[in-house]
Amino acid sequence: ALGGPRSKLSFTPIAPVDALVDAMTVPAGFTWKPVIRWGDPLFSNSPVFDAGNQSAAAQALQFGYNCDYTDILALPGSKGRRAVLFANHEYTNEAIMVPPSLAPAEVRGIGKAAHGLSVVELKRKNTAKPWSYVQGAPRNRRFLTTTPYELTGPAAGSDLVKTIDDPAGRTVLGTLGNCAGGTTPWGTILSGEENFNGYFVSAGISAGDRRYGLGSTPTVRGWELDEARFDTRRPGYENEKHRFGYIVEVDPFDPTSTPRKHSALGRFKHEGANVTIAPDGRVVAYSGDDERFDYLYKFVSTNTVQPGNTPEARRANMSLLSQGSLYVARFQGNSVPEINGAGALPTDGAFDGVGEWLPLLLDNESAVPGMSAAEVAVFTRLAADKVGPTKMDRCEDVEPNPVTGKVYVACTNNTNRGTGTNAAADEANPRTANRDGHVVELTEAGGDATATRFTWNLLLVCGDPAKNSTAYFSGYPADKVSPISCPDNLAFDSVGNLWISTDGQPGTIGYCDGLFKVALEGAERGRVEQFLAVPRDAETCGPIIHDDERSVFVAVQHPGEDGTWAAQVSRFPDYVPAGVQPAPGQGALPRPSVVQVYRG
Ligand code: FEO
Ligand code: CA
Ligand code: CA
Ligand code: CA
Repeated sequence: ALGGPRSKLSFTPIAPVDALVDAMTVPAGFTWKPVIRWGDPLFSNSPVFDAGNQSAAAQALQFGYNCDYTDILALPGSKGRRAVLFANHEYTNEAIMVPPSLAPAEVRGIGKAAHGLSVVELKRKNTAKPWSYVQGAPRNRRFLTTTPYELTGPAAGSDLVKTIDDPAGRTVLGTLGNCAGGTTPWGTILSGEENFNGYFVSAGISAGDRRYGLGSTPTVRGWELDEARFDTRRPGYENEKHRFGYIVEVDPFDPTSTPRKHSALGRFKHEGANVTIAPDGRVVAYSGDDERFDYLYKFVSTNTVQPGNTPEARRANMSLLSQGSLYVARFQGNSVPEINGAGALPTDGAFDGVGEWLPLLLDNESAVPGMSAAEVAVFTRLAADKVGPTKMDRCEDVEPNPVTGKVYVACTNNTNRGTGTNAAADEANPRTANRDGHVVELTEAGGDATATRFTWNLLLVCGDPAKNSTAYFSGYPADKVSPISCPDNLAFDSVGNLWISTDGQPGTIGYCDGLFKVALEGAERGRVEQFLAVPRDAETCGPIIHDDERSVFVAVQHPGEDGTWAAQVSRFPDYVPAGVQPAPGQGALPRPSVVQVYRG
């Protein structure tokens, strides 16, 4: 099987890998190597990773845990031999990270320091060689829970975000629950604050608290024991929870820059955001709210992108996401969905229809009666509830295809669809108890990303065709595809093939999560081919497809998550044999890592 008619990255698909296998599996002719691992030292004064003797102070100077969104951006003028790597660190698994004998306060400190973001410089001898990271490079940076972020957009300076520590309501410390992301055309990185609610204790009574899953039980990590702001019942900190749940923008080339949180893109469980440039030069950012029955959003900037890479142009472009219009999507099917029977398609033979983008903010002014712009920006879910958008099956990554402009939406799963009093299946979310997820293909009216109307169809209704007769691959023969379940992150190669990474296959189709290529055009459309599988319990994140260099990068998140300190179930990526003392800097435990897969 070829990797696409014009892509240089050809490969023979791998067979699905049993969920209990603790191996990184890549196609024949390819090899893999970590670019950077949890605990690797970033600065000249960083301690060497020592799993049994980890400390919060060491962790703050080392690569964080559970990397999710990742990108690699070449340094200008380096002839492709230097780059910056960005990775975020979504959450921590203390039970397998640190010895249980450590003092609880130290465990909390390690966990906290392993959250946030990292930027690290990479080098390679030439473009045919794999990257390695450069300890002590000038652009290396850790973003911790003490790092200041500038809040922009309608929420900035409003009473809804002021705290005793930030009476101006404009500076937030830290970013939490960073999941997927995107790289902007002006060379910055966007990262989505997703499950931020789990870090806060709250009264749990208000409509805002309930709609965002904020409750009064102690948090799993217990940071409220050390920092008052994580218990928002405390006087002066009532609004701290309103300062998370945003899209964060980082300039990875300037280690002194202040990252931003853009409230004009709304506050919800942002999976991530991806930007495209509309024909008139305005920029459009798509973002999904990853919660069962929540919504798909897009933001359209007020101002237009400045061409070029001058400092002035970059500065102007870095404010594009601070002002604009925010919309939420309503999907309408065009046929009766006969979706729950064996292999049944809708009456017209396609899961498809039309849709519209419903305004919540217009040029930073509220479009929702009874709510101020700041209220829409902070309580975006409540605002959206008022305008009747479509309840989706957990929108994860949403990404425009740079070749065709069509927008792809990964709906990872929703086992509650159609159960009890929950919303029934509809043509855009066609499965009751949707275990395997699906992928929506959306075409903006006139090919203009700022349009308020669109058409849509389903590219994939995922599953293992051998076990799930409702799996659908745009008509491609189901017996000739790799089984796929729980689509999460999306990427494109240089010729516009879609790449999908998964999160949850072990629990649905019994295979390790992986990375899959999907052809979108011509006779091959809907053909799913598995490129790699990640080790036991891991989710496949990133991904980055540098098909022109015949390499692929993925972030391997939470390997061995279901083990314990004493009984680890993954030893990725060092694979130190049992009973052997790890070499300095290595570990006999799972280490979330960014991995390069390349010919060789
Ligand atoms: Fe962190 Fe929606 O996956
Ligand atoms: Ca239809
Ligand atoms: Ca995700
Ligand atoms: Ca996920």
